Amino acid sequence: MGPITRREALKLASALGASLAWPSMVLRPGPRPIQERRDLFAHGVASGDPRPDSVLLWTRRPPESGSAPLELTVEVARDPDFTRLVSRARTTVSAAADWTCRVLAAGLEPGCVYWYRFVDPQGLASRVGRTITAPQEDDAAPARFTFVSCQNMQMGACNAYRRMIYEDQRRPRDAQLQFVLHLGDFVYEVTWYPEDRPQGYYDRTLKDVVRYPNGEKIADFHVPTTVDDYRALYRGYLLDPDLQDARARWPFVCMWDNHEFSWKGWQSQEVFGTVKPAQTRKAAANQAWFEYQPARVAQNGGSLERFDAPQVADAPITQFDTDGLGQEAGNLAAINSLKINRTFRYGRHLELLLTDNRSFRSQPLTDRPETAPFKPRQFPFAVSEDVTEILDAGNRYGGGHPPATISFGGADLPNPRKDAPPLSMLGAPQKAWFLARLHASTATWKVWGNTVAMLDWRIDFQNLPPELGVHWPTTGYALLGDDDWSGYRAERREILDFVRANGITGFATVAGDRHAFLAGVISTDLPPKPFTPVGAEFVTGSISAPGLAEAARHVTKDNPLRPIYVHEPAAGSPGPAINCSLMNGVRASLALARTNDLRTAIAERNLDNAPQLAFADVGGHGYALVHVASDHLEVEFVCIPEPLARSPDVNGGPLAYRVAHQVKLWKAGEVPRVQRTTVEGTLPLVL
Ligand SMILES: [Fe+2]
Repeated sequence: MGPITRREALKLASALGASLAWPSMVLRPGPRPIQERRDLFAHGVASGDPRPDSVLLWTRRPPESGSAPLELTVEVARDPDFTRLVSRARTTVSAAADWTCRVLAAGLEPGCVYWYRFVDPQGLASRVGRTITAPQEDDAAPARFTFVSCQNMQMGACNAYRRMIYEDQRRPRDAQLQFVLHLGDFVYEVTWYPEDRPQGYYDRTLKDVVRYPNGEKIADFHVPTTVDDYRALYRGYLLDPDLQDARARWPFVCMWDNHEFSWKGWQSQEVFGTVKPAQTRKAAANQAWFEYQPARVAQNGGSLERFDAPQVADAPITQFDTDGLGQEAGNLAAINSLKINRTFRYGRHLELLLTDNRSFRSQPLTDRPETAPFKPRQFPFAVSEDVTEILDAGNRYGGGHPPATISFGGADLPNPRKDAPPLSMLGAPQKAWFLARLHASTATWKVWGNTVAMLDWRIDFQNLPPELGVHWPTTGYALLGDDDWSGYRAERREILDFVRANGITGFATVAGDRHAFLAGVISTDLPPKPFTPVGAEFVTGSISAPGLAEAARHVTKDNPLRPIYVHEPAAGSPGPAINCSLMNGVRASLALARTNDLRTAIAERNLDNAPQLAFADVGGHGYALVHVASDHLEVEFVCIPEPLARSPDVNGGPLAYRVAHQVKLWKAGEVPRVQRTTVEGTLPLVL
């Protein structure tokens, strides 16, 4: 493939709803003199989705008064002082896109740092942004990036970004990060207005980040209902100085998760207690995402000035196809109004594949009324692994022989899903696309930006000593949570079987959503079934949203299961016993409560509980650094203390720990292994 021509770049830019900035020998003069006025560009600048020859640039510039569109000049240069100008182009902001704009800076050199700014007709300019193009496909240098997720601005600060910037500025140029992969929950649409919840959330004080111009109040929180509400949410979040600095330093590659639309949403439906049609909200969420995230995705028939949101109504879905896809016309129009699954190539060793795990998924088990009888009582956050396996697979369980009844809590309950098709996370068309791209990739490492994790969180509640007085309702393991891949097990099996059958190596997934740091290997089954890993997975802790360890601290003191979740030493603060339970089983955590010594406790571990996990900390916050080389892939978790308030320090405040894990490239037929390489600081109840 030769370099992109100006004509091709123009066509591409218009498909992306972007203006084009193209290098020119003779640059038309821009406004002079130039004065930086960050207050007029209050939401900063951003760049996104780099290719070797181009990158998208973004800003927002509302008018001081009136509503007439405003013309901006964008400048792209090789230096932060703009003495080596590469291109200068015009773009327009208007109310139709909430005064945001996107510019495709094309005709660039691969693997280069560029600087950009937006200037209004009076010469008043945005801050200067920095961005980096992707290396060429045959570039053998290792790829370096970071992945993040779950930045709840109401409940915490972005100290993680501050540390990320501080450390990157001190690295030599060839060791600096090339991009930030954001795996979703960039915003949290569920918003508590502080006065509605003066007691805060867990032990956190709620900050006033956004007020919806329309919105709906449900219980004590508010959710957005219109495009203006979703826009207000992004505007509120983008005022954060650390997030703004990160967007101005690196290109971001973004994939949404659930909270960009709705907390427990699937397709275009909301679930707050019961399923509620929300086609208009899904279309509005897509529009705001398109306006605020400079991503290389095409809108359906839109123009430069505006995203054409489909005209839909909030109608119930009554018909589903065999992949669980709701056939209601407005549902299909809303979820197809913006497709953001895509791939990126970073040199010889990295292909990044991003999937949308929310817009096409069938309704999760956990929200289906027919699965209610299978919810274990007394066991915080837990479901049964065996039962989930049967319910998810539906009529495909056991090679097409699902049981008529399921043994649960001493009774044989009718299997409500024995005639239903298995659940799907990706939907059929996206799954076919994903598997084809995975199979065709020639990169050393195929890294799946997966947003939701595949690694099971298991606890062997079946091994609780009887004298504790609580009884697990099955003979198998407990799973924590079932709305990620651990509840879409049949499709997970299909994907992992495809990887094995096709001899695909160098397969790794990176995920967010769990609000936990996890490293391990992924397998269709865990003991007592055959454990046969086919890839590695790394999950990053949240930037700021509270994790399970924090929630578990609120398991009541009189609950006999409390030692499984919380370790309360005689002296010192409580620790996340749940990390120990997930890695080693319940007997180890009960021994920990007795002995206060992790090493002694681990002698009582259940080796079958978690052979898939090399590391689990469900209380950590921060980010994950990835180094992708010809013969190995390494991921370093950088963990900070709970970011309850913004740190005044230039480095974002103290570190809790850093821990790195490495997986060596394996050959087809070999088993991947994730091994710890370095540790700094004290790991929280993990050996
Ligand atoms: Fe999240």
